[in-house]
Amino acid sequence: MLNFIEDIQKNNNCGLEEAVRIALRRVVGAYVIVLLDKDNPDTIIAARKGSPLVIGIGKGEHFLASDASPIIEYTKEVVYVNDYELAILKADEIILKNLGNEKLTPYIQKLDMELAAIEKGGYDHFMLKEIFEQPDTIFDCLRGRLDVEKGTITMAGIQQNIEKLKNANRIIMIACGTSWHAGLVAEYIFEELCRIPVEVEYASEFRYRNPVIHQGDVIIAISQSGETADTIVAIEKAKENGAFILGVVNVVGSSIARISHAGAYSHAGPEIGVASTKAFTGQLAVLVMIALKIAKEKGTIDATRYMHLLNELHNVPEKVKEVLELSPGIRKLAIKYKDAKDALYLGRGYNFPVALEGALKLKEISYIHAEGYPAAEMKHGPIALVEETLPVVFIATKDSYHEKIISNMQEIKARRGKVIAVISHGDDIIPKMADDTIVIPEADELIAPILSVIPMQLLAYYIGVAKGYDVDKPRNLAKSVTVE
Ligand code: F6R
Repeated sequence: MLNFIEDIQKNNNCGLEEAVRIALRRVVGAYVIVLLDKDNPDTIIAARKGSPLVIGIGKGEHFLASDASPIIEYTKEVVYVNDYELAILKADEIILKNLGNEKLTPYIQKLDMELAAIEKGGYDHFMLKEIFEQPDTIFDCLRGRLDVEKGTITMAGIQQNIEKLKNANRIIMIACGTSWHAGLVAEYIFEELCRIPVEVEYASEFRYRNPVIHQGDVIIAISQSGETADTIVAIEKAKENGAFILGVVNVVGSSIARISHAGAYSHAGPEIGVASTKAFTGQLAVLVMIALKIAKEKGTIDATRYMHLLNELHNVPEKVKEVLELSPGIRKLAIKYKDAKDALYLGRGYNFPVALEGALKLKEISYIHAEGYPAAEMKHGPIALVEETLPVVFIATKDSYHEKIISNMQEIKARRGKVIAVISHGDDIIPKMADDTIVIPEADELIAPILSVIPMQLLAYYIGVAKGYDVDKPRNLAKSVTVE
C-alpha cells in the first residue's frame, strides 16, 4: 500500500493526502491505514475500510485506536471514522473528508465508560473479573428498560419499529461464535413467544451464499464487538436486499451498531478477555426483552406468562450472584478433570446452545477438545466416544425436557462415562446418577441459559488456569475478528 501511494504521488505530482485519496478509491479489502509524511510531520492521515478506527480528541493531541478502550485513559471524546472517509489530524484540528475531497462534519461522541472498566480490579484475569461482573452487567442491561411494577419494557429502538418487527415474515439471527450461540437460544425464545419463524446463520456462511431474503424479513445481528468482519458483510448484503437490520451489539458506536437500522445495546461494558462471557449473558437478556416486547404487542403471550417472565428476568442478577458463589466447588471440579483429553457437553431445548457454548469456552481457554451436542443426538454417533475417561457435562436444569435428559444421562452412565451435571435446586434424581453436580437456582426454562452458562464459563476458566495457560490471551485468537 505504501509503495502504491508513493507511486501515485510521483506519477501525479501530488501531496500525500491526494495520493491516499486516489489509492483508496482503487484498493480492495479491509484495512486501517495511518500515515505520516516525513516532510509534513505535524499531520497524520488515517482511513479505514471494514476494520475499526476511533480517534480520541485530547487537548492539543489526538489518539488513534481500533476501539475506545485504550483511549479513555486520555479523553472521553471520540470520533468514529467510517469507511471511505479520510481523517486529517493536526495537533488541535481534525478534518474529515470523503474520497471526493468534500469536507464532512465530524460527529463527536462522548464515551460513557470509566477507566476501572478496563482494569483488572484485583482479579487475576479479565476473564474472571468479567464473569464476576455479570450480576452488575445484567442489572445494567435491564435497568431503565424493565419495569416490573408497571409491567413494561422500554426499548426505543424496538418500540419505534414495532410494526416491522411484529409483522416480520421471519427473523434471521446472524452472528459468529458465542454470539451465534446467543442467536440459537433466541431462536427458541422468539419462536415460542412471538410465533415468528427464526433461522440462525453463521455470518461467514450467509455472506458467501446466495440467501433468499425478502422485504419484510428482519435480521437480528448479534455481536459483542460490533466489528466482526463476516457479520458486517452479511448484514450489508441483507440490507441491500431490503431486510430490516436490528443490531444487538455491546460496543457503543461500533460499525454494526451504525450500519443497523435500529438496535439495542447489551450494556455489558468493555469485554477485554478474549473469551466472551458477560457479553453473552447481556445478549441473552436483551434478546429476551425484545422477544417479550414483540410478543406483547403481537398478542402471542398471555398476561400471566408475560408478567411471570418479567419477574424472572428481574430476579436474574440476584440468582447470578448465587451461581457465582459456587466457584470454589467448580474450581475443585476443574482440578479433578483438567487432564481430560476430550469432553462432551450435552443439553436439550433452551440449554442445547449452552452446551455448545460450554464446549467452545473449554476449547478456547484450556485447549481440550470438546464437543457440544443436543443430548438426543448422542445416539446418532457421538455415543461411540463414551468411555470411562470421558467427562460428559450435562446442562440439565428443570425444564420440559427434564425426563428426557435423565434418560440421556443413563445412556452415558451405562457406558461408564463421567457425568458432571448442572441441575436446579430441588432436583433429587440426578444427584443419584451423576458423578458430580453443580446446583443452581431454579428459573423459568426460557431464562435458565443466563444462569446455566455461568458454571460453563467458570469450569473453562479454572481448567485453563489449572493447566497454566494465559486465559485472557488464548493462542491463535483475537478479540475482534476484523478479517474474513
Ligand atoms: C468466543 C468468542 C468468539 C466471538 C466471535 C464473535 O468466546 O469470543 O467466538 O463470540 O468472534 O464476536 P463478536 O460477538 O464480537 O461479533
